[in-house]
Amino acid sequence: MAIIINKDIFTIQTKNSTYQMKVDNNGVLLHAYYGEKTDNTDKSLLSYQADRGFSGNPYSIGKSDRTYSLDSLPQEYSAFGVGDYRITALRVQNADGSQAAEWNYVGHHIEKGKYAIPGLPAVYAEKEEAQTLVIQLKDADTGLEAALYYGVLEDLDIITRAVKITNQGKSNVTLQKAASLQLDWEYGDFELISFYGRHSMEMNMQREKIHHGVQSIGSVRGISSHQYNPFVVLCEKDAKETTGSCYGFSLMYSGEFLIEVEKDQIDRTRLLCGIHSDNFQWTLQAKESLWLPEVIMTYSQNGIAPMSQNMHKVIREHVCRGIWKKKRRPILINNWEATYFKFTGDMLINIAKEAANLGIELFVMDDGWFGKREDDNTGLGDWTPNEKKLGCTLKELSQKIISQGIQFGIWIEPEGISEDSDLYRAHPEWVVKIPNRKPCLSRNQLVLDFSRKDVQDYMIQTISNTIKESSATYIKWDFNRAICNKFSNFLTADKQGEFSHRYVLGLYRVLEQLTSDFPEVLLEGCCGGGGRFDAGMLYYTPQIWGSDNTDAIERLSIQYGASFGYPISAMGSHVSAVPNHQTGRITPLSTRACMAMAGTFGYELDIATLTAEQKQEIKRQIAVFKKYYPLIQFGDYYRISSPLEGNCTIWEFVDPEGKEALVSAIYHHVQANSVPIRAKVYGLKDNAMYQLSLQEYEEKQPEKLPYGFHSKELISGATLRQMGFVVPSPVNGFQAWQIYIQEKRV
Ligand code: DGJ
Repeated sequence: MAIIINKDIFTIQTKNSTYQMKVDNNGVLLHAYYGEKTDNTDKSLLSYQADRGFSGNPYSIGKSDRTYSLDSLPQEYSAFGVGDYRITALRVQNADGSQAAEWNYVGHHIEKGKYAIPGLPAVYAEKEEAQTLVIQLKDADTGLEAALYYGVLEDLDIITRAVKITNQGKSNVTLQKAASLQLDWEYGDFELISFYGRHSMEMNMQREKIHHGVQSIGSVRGISSHQYNPFVVLCEKDAKETTGSCYGFSLMYSGEFLIEVEKDQIDRTRLLCGIHSDNFQWTLQAKESLWLPEVIMTYSQNGIAPMSQNMHKVIREHVCRGIWKKKRRPILINNWEATYFKFTGDMLINIAKEAANLGIELFVMDDGWFGKREDDNTGLGDWTPNEKKLGCTLKELSQKIISQGIQFGIWIEPEGISEDSDLYRAHPEWVVKIPNRKPCLSRNQLVLDFSRKDVQDYMIQTISNTIKESSATYIKWDFNRAICNKFSNFLTADKQGEFSHRYVLGLYRVLEQLTSDFPEVLLEGCCGGGGRFDAGMLYYTPQIWGSDNTDAIERLSIQYGASFGYPISAMGSHVSAVPNHQTGRITPLSTRACMAMAGTFGYELDIATLTAEQKQEIKRQIAVFKKYYPLIQFGDYYRISSPLEGNCTIWEFVDPEGKEALVSAIYHHVQANSVPIRAKVYGLKDNAMYQLSLQEYEEKQPEKLPYGFHSKELISGATLRQMGFVVPSPVNGFQAWQIYIQEKRV
C-alpha cells in the first residue's frame, strides 16, 4: 500500500521516500514531511508555533491563541489574501473584487492507478503500478474548491502533483495565479539547481544558496524557453552525485511557467511551481473547472545521480508513449547544416544515397521544401511542396529517397506564419497580434493562433496530408520564435488572459490527434533547438533537438545540464561538419560521434564530401552505437566529471545489474606533460572483477595504456568505485575515449 491514511494523517510511501500531510484541528491541510523513507507516524512535530508578531491569526483562533498563523504554518496549498504573506500558490479575484481564499480540508479519496488530466500531458501507468490520492480543499465563503491530486509510482520513487480548481459557488471567480505544486520545509539549508541559457547555448547549470527573499526562474515567452528550463533540483548544500539529499521537480508544461523559492522570516523554505501568473487570468463561472499542469517529483537521499535516474526512468517509461518508447530510434541524417535553404531534389537524393550506404537509417528533409521558402523571410504557413526546387512532386522525391534503402522524414513549423504567405493573406485573423498595433517580428515571422479550434483543425489536416503524401516516418516539429503581442481574435476582451494557456492546450490537442492518427511516425520536437525542451513535449515527441549549437565541446555543457532532468533517449544530438558552423572549432570525427551518442545519435553534414576514411569511420561509429545502444538508452546514467571544471568531461552508462558499463571521456584541450585524469565508476558490483577496453577510432592509441586496459589486468568493482581508473591520455586536441567495462569471471 503506497497510500496510508490514519485519521487525519495522509502518508505516501514509495520504495525509498515518504511524503506526509496532516489536517490540523482547524481544518488546515499541513505539509508534514517529504524525504528519506520512514514510518507512518505523525511527522508534524517539527512544526513549532510561536507568536511571531505581525503574523496574524485566523479570527476563530486569534483571540485565544496568537501563535497560530497561516504565515508560519507549513501548508500543502496556500492562498493569497488571508494572512500568509509569503509567496502563495493561489490568488483569486472574487466577484466583489476582493482577493482572498481560505482553504479548509473537506474530504479525500483514493483511486486505483494513476489519474489522467484531460487535454494535458501527464505521467501514465498501469492500474497495478500506481495509486492516486485526492484531497479536497474548499473556501467556505465563495465555494471555490481545490482538488489536490497525488499520483504515486511506488517502485520508481515518483510522486506527481496536479490540481483541479472548481467553482462550486454561484458567482464568477477569476484565478490570477494558480500553482500546481507547493512544498514547504520546516528546516533545511538548501541550494537550488536550475538551468538557464539562450538560443544555441541552452541548459547551463547554476547552483545557488537559497537565501532570504524570493528566487525564481520562469518564462513569459509562450514557450518553456531557452532562457530557463522548467526543471529544478533542491538539495542539501553538500549534496553531490552519490551523496546527500536532493529533490527533483519537473513541470510537465510547454508554455509559460514560474518556479519560485522563498526562505521566510523563520528560515522556512517554500517552493512553488506552475503556470506563470504574468500572462494568466482565468475566470471560472459557477460549476466550471480548470486543471493545472502536472509536476513530477522525486527524492533521493543518495545524491543527485539517483534523482536524475528516477527522472530518466519515469520520462522514458511513463511519459514517452507509442511504439518509439522502447524501440531503437533510427540513426538519421538531416540536411540542414549540409545545405541550409540551398538544395535541389537531386542533392537530397545524393545525400540520402551516400547515407544509406553507410548504414544511416533515416533521411530528414529540413526547412525550405515548401511555398516560396528560399530563406527565413517568407513562406511559413504555405505547406505546399516547391516542386520546381525539388524537381518533382513530394511523393516522387520521397519515393526516390526511400528506394535508396532509407526512410524519409520531413521538417515542419506549424505554429509559424510569414506575412508573405498565402495563408496569411487568406486568414489574417488567424495570427497572434493585437488589433491596431504593429506586431513584434522574430526571424521575420509571426505566430499562428493555436488557441483557436479552426486553426488547430486546419493544421491537423495539413500535416496529415503531408505525412500521407510523403510516406514520412518521422516529423521534426520546429518553432522558431517566442510569443508576444498576445491576443486572440477568437476570445472576448475579458478572456484574453486565457490566451497563453489556451495556446498550449491547442498545441497539445494537435499533437495528441496526430500521434494517435499516425502512431508509427516518430516526432522530434524542436524550438530553435532546446526552446521547448520539457516533460510536457516529451509526452508527444519522445525526442527533442537539444540545441542549434552542434559543436561537440559546447554540447558537453548543454547535454550535461539536460542530463539532470531528462533521459539520454530524449536528447537530439548529431555529428556535424568541421569547422563547426556555430563556433568555427575543429574537433575529431570520433569526438563528435562520442558526444552525439550521449543522445539520439545522427548526422547533419554533407556526407558526399567526406573522404573514404571518414566514411569508413562513420560505418564504425554506427556499429559502435548499435552495439552499445541498450546500455546507452536503458542503462543508469552517472556524471563522473563535469564540463564546468577540470580538463575532461566524463560520463557513464551502466547496466542496472552492474555487469557492464560504457564510460565516455572528452578532453577539453591537450596539455603537454598532462596530469593524469581518473574516473570513478559507479553502479558496478563491488566483489566482481572487470576488464577495461578502449574503443578504437581513427586516432592512434596512446603511447602507454594505463592499468586495466591490457589483457589479464582485471580491476574489482570496489576499486573502480572507490579509486577509479586512469583515463588514457589524449593524443589529439578534444580527444574522446569510449571505454567499455565488462565483468570477467575469474
Ligand atoms: C531551427 C532548428 O533548430 C534547425 O535545426 C533547423 O531546423 C532550422 N530551424 C530551420 O529553419
